[in-house]
Amino acid sequence: MRVETSETVLAKSTVNRIEEIAGTFPGYRRAHAKGMLYEATFTPTGEASAFTTASHLRDTEVQAIVRFSNSSPNPSTADALAAVKGMSVQFQLPNDAVTNLVSITLPIFVTKSPQIFFDILNTVKSFKNGKPHFKDMVNLFASYPESRAAFQMIRKLKHTKSYATGRYCAVHAFYLVNEQGFRTPVKFEWEPEAGIETLSIKEAISLPSDYLGIEMSERVKLEEVRFRLQIVIGEQGDSTDDPTKEWPKDRQRINAGVLRVKTKAIVDQDHFVFDPTVLPPGIECSDDEILSFRKDAYSVSYDRRKKGQ
Ligand code: HEM
Repeated sequence: MRVETSETVLAKSTVNRIEEIAGTFPGYRRAHAKGMLYEATFTPTGEASAFTTASHLRDTEVQAIVRFSNSSPNPSTADALAAVKGMSVQFQLPNDAVTNLVSITLPIFVTKSPQIFFDILNTVKSFKNGKPHFKDMVNLFASYPESRAAFQMIRKLKHTKSYATGRYCAVHAFYLVNEQGFRTPVKFEWEPEAGIETLSIKEAISLPSDYLGIEMSERVKLEEVRFRLQIVIGEQGDSTDDPTKEWPKDRQRINAGVLRVKTKAIVDQDHFVFDPTVLPPGIECSDDEILSFRKDAYSVSYDRRKKGQ
């Protein structure tokens, strides 16, 4: 039996609040409810070998599962109405181990504190008819100054033309640990080999509600969809505990490997849970509280959807 801690209690309250705001859709993820899953292969370049003992980032090609998603908790939300999209990768490591890398089409998050995330949800819940008016948004910006950058980015975010043409960021800092035990702060990003292509909101709205799923099903029949895994190397002074802040643009980047998405879609996606804190030796979580909180929140969501709730 899982022991209740203040984190697990807050995780339950947070998922409850998401359900109260967005509704409950039995059997679905409480966020990023609509998605599609593919088999993939990840081939490392070896460029990250000096930084980590994790074999899939050094010299071992591994199979992977990748899930592309629309961020809304409502599985019927049109792709054009949820600007943020997700890409979750589960690498299948030797000896039945796995590790997850979960990313979105934004480089930052709205807060560095799980409690503030819950407070923001409470504020959103208080909006009349669930729809914010101009005054509500002004109050939201004033009440949560650390969230301004992310809110503004979300507002301006262009819709990706295809799941295959988005750049996806894992947002949090992690540590790579090498054979000498040296720890390097890093961030992960997936760069689409097809190039970044976006749509205006007007163009996205004119497309079918599930345009991303339809486009991807057609695309994988015609071409191999590939993403390069970029590792951004942090420097002294770069924050590792604050996902509301980007690191300076001039940080060194290494090209750690390529993910090749196969044509075969996987129909049963219910039993996968992409907990971003599941890491192999050679990669460690940073001190980012949102990162550790996600473990509890995803587990609450998984337990509920597994029971068909
Ligand atoms: C307070 C912080 C957060 C909360 C409470 C939260 C909550 C959730 C929940 C409940 C799910 C569904 C999990 C499941 O049923 O398997 C989910 C999925 C997801 N979240 Fe978060 N999340 C948070 C932060 C983030 C951040 C910072 C990112 C950026 C990388 C992110 C990206 C995703 C993605 C891509 C999925 C879909 C996973 C999949 O494909 O199964 N989330 N989130």
